Amino acid sequence: MKNIFSRKRVLYVSAALLFCLPFGRAMAQTPAETARMNAYVSALMKKMTIDEKIGQLNLVTGGMAITGSVTNNGIGEGVKNGSIGGIFGLYGTSDVRKMQEAAVKGTRLHIPLIFGLDVIHGHRTIFPIPLGMSATWDLGLIEQSARIAAKEATAEGLNWVFSPMVDIARDARWGRISEGSGEDPYLGGKIAAAMVRGYQHNNLKAPDAVMACVKHFALYGGAEAGREYNTVDMSRLAMYNYYLPPYRAAVDAGAGSIMSSFNVVDGVPSTVNKWLLTDLLRKQWGFKGFVVSDYTSLNEVTEHGLGDLQTVSARAINAGLDMDMVGEGYLKTLKQSLQEKKISINDIDRACRLILEAKYKLGLFADPYKSIDPRREKTDIMTAENRAAARITAEHSFVLLKNDNQILPLKKSGGSIALVGPLADNKRDMLGTWVIGGEWEKSVSVMEGIKKVVGDNVKINYARGSNITDDTTFMKRLNFGPGMVWLDKQSPDEMIDDAVKAAKKSDIIVAVVGESQSMSGESSSRSDISIPESQQKMLKELAKLGKPMVLVLFNGRPLTLQWENDNAAAILDVWAPGTEAGNAIANVLFGNYNPSGKLTTTFPRSVGQIPLYYNHLNTGRPYTSGPTKFRSDYLDISNDPLYPFGYGLSYTKFSYSDIKLNKSVLVGNETLTASVTVSNTGKYAGEEVVQLYIKDPVASISRPVKELKDFKKIALQPGEQKTVTFNITTDKLKFYNSDLRYDWEPGEFVIEIGTNSATTGSTRVIWNK
Ligand code: BGC
Repeated sequence: MKNIFSRKRVLYVSAALLFCLPFGRAMAQTPAETARMNAYVSALMKKMTIDEKIGQLNLVTGGMAITGSVTNNGIGEGVKNGSIGGIFGLYGTSDVRKMQEAAVKGTRLHIPLIFGLDVIHGHRTIFPIPLGMSATWDLGLIEQSARIAAKEATAEGLNWVFSPMVDIARDARWGRISEGSGEDPYLGGKIAAAMVRGYQHNNLKAPDAVMACVKHFALYGGAEAGREYNTVDMSRLAMYNYYLPPYRAAVDAGAGSIMSSFNVVDGVPSTVNKWLLTDLLRKQWGFKGFVVSDYTSLNEVTEHGLGDLQTVSARAINAGLDMDMVGEGYLKTLKQSLQEKKISINDIDRACRLILEAKYKLGLFADPYKSIDPRREKTDIMTAENRAAARITAEHSFVLLKNDNQILPLKKSGGSIALVGPLADNKRDMLGTWVIGGEWEKSVSVMEGIKKVVGDNVKINYARGSNITDDTTFMKRLNFGPGMVWLDKQSPDEMIDDAVKAAKKSDIIVAVVGESQSMSGESSSRSDISIPESQQKMLKELAKLGKPMVLVLFNGRPLTLQWENDNAAAILDVWAPGTEAGNAIANVLFGNYNPSGKLTTTFPRSVGQIPLYYNHLNTGRPYTSGPTKFRSDYLDISNDPLYPFGYGLSYTKFSYSDIKLNKSVLVGNETLTASVTVSNTGKYAGEEVVQLYIKDPVASISRPVKELKDFKKIALQPGEQKTVTFNITTDKLKFYNSDLRYDWEPGEFVIEIGTNSATTGSTRVIWNK
């Protein structure tokens, strides 16, 4: 096994590097290019009527992606009469070409359309859901996934993707936690930038680059009670220090567009929030791209209580919203508002200019058909290379939550396995949420993957064992598409009996359980975040047999797993791994790859602990374990999570030395180096994410108990050791203070390095100004 690991890792690293090398920071336009663009757009705008300008601000859906009650009709007509600036949810070179020709040949000024889609974790070749992808802590792999998605998307005529989704989330009840990178602003920012680089490829004009659209701006993940589309109410300090950094990182990486969110920010819906869209985004951050609303979020401002469609549309254009998705508020009301002097032509001109600039930056004026190449549609999609990259990324995303007595990896030969659970012989649920271009029929089931790895060398006794859920009301909610969740012909008891029979005949149980595809994602909040009862019942019967039970867990969010943690021998969290699910899972179960993923969200013991996150403040009466009165705790449960942020086991063991510093007293702009030596003391080659946390124990405001400030993923052979050094400058000490000034304050700092946020070595330094 040792050799397999080392050879594979070399391939993985070199593949990731190959994809990474051409990228750097987003390539800014040269002044000469900007001048050319400005002149071009100005000349064009001089020729445009008000109607044509307003038409550019109108984004319609082609019907393949509908997340609200409203859809657009008569798109073909709209394109020809210049009342549409872009289409999303339409792809495939022949359809896209038809529309682009209608725009370019059929309209007076020949302005091309922009074509968008929710390409979230791959287009056709589906990668792990973003929450899973973040668990790789591997920016090279993440960037590569976006690069491949861009290649596939452009091969079908697209030039704009509604990704990355960078909303920080601390509430596992919220279904869209699956679409982001978890709870940490530093990691979230790094991932956001990597995705933008992957999509935009430093050169938006390239035929295989797409414009990124950062979403959902802003604070969407802070929805109260984790309930979808709910109110967000947050201090400026929380915004600036914890929630805004990933959006900022994506903007700094050069993202060409940004999507406003459904929620309110300081009482004003984001879509009409001038402070957010203009003061913060453009004036403070220097964003140069355009802002698009979310799906009918402009119309929904009326429901928020800010007035009728004309009123809110006028407010939106004035606030800095450039493009209106689906709702046609701009199309129907802006002209009238202009005539009534409720808005100024400057606002319409600003928005129109930014959208034309985006089209210019994408090279669409030079060649509106640059990504409409039917040959690429045949050669560039779901290639063996793309699938291999998806498999490798999936393997790296799995988090080993428990592994008693080294039960994993399983033997590839000899013995028998009971393979049970509703997700074991299942293709549909492998892909996870937001897979508009994904074809589940082409995904690899766990059963198929296992058979490929062990062939006939291990006897597999299969039983479905339970439905995803037996609750038909819940099932109806999950079935927003046909046949997503279904009831077996057998009764639940008969299914459990079959699973027990299979287990009795076998040495070991592998139960593939958890959430199905539609249990997370948009509009999929849950108040109970455990494995559904039908599956728990099966697990409880199986546990009675006393045989070792391995759980392969599918989930789009942290789940409450106390019973599972107490009763299963091993738990491998695989999220929703994507097209190559079964192959990746089998490779990890049987030791072809040693798991190296680490959690990017805290797993609570109980839903009652939520919101639960590692970078919390201390409180005046901090939690101490054990029953003490008058502390910040619960009477009935500890404050500790079941699995902390940054946690994840390996088949091997890593030991950490004490932290070594270059100095313990620093002044001003000096650099602190903090090093640890990490040794692989186990039997297997493996990878470890070494994590650096810093605490600022005395400051002008209460600061978190610790904050992630850096990390390095290293590979170690058995017996090998490596020294990992972090260079720490005062940038890593900065935070937004009560005046929202971003600076560091001198004094003592605690430097922690370790394998997860709860298990670190620690030392202190004094840093003076
Ligand atoms: C979602 C966005 C998505 C948009 C377009 C909305 O419902 O919130 O994330 O990009 O639909 O499909």
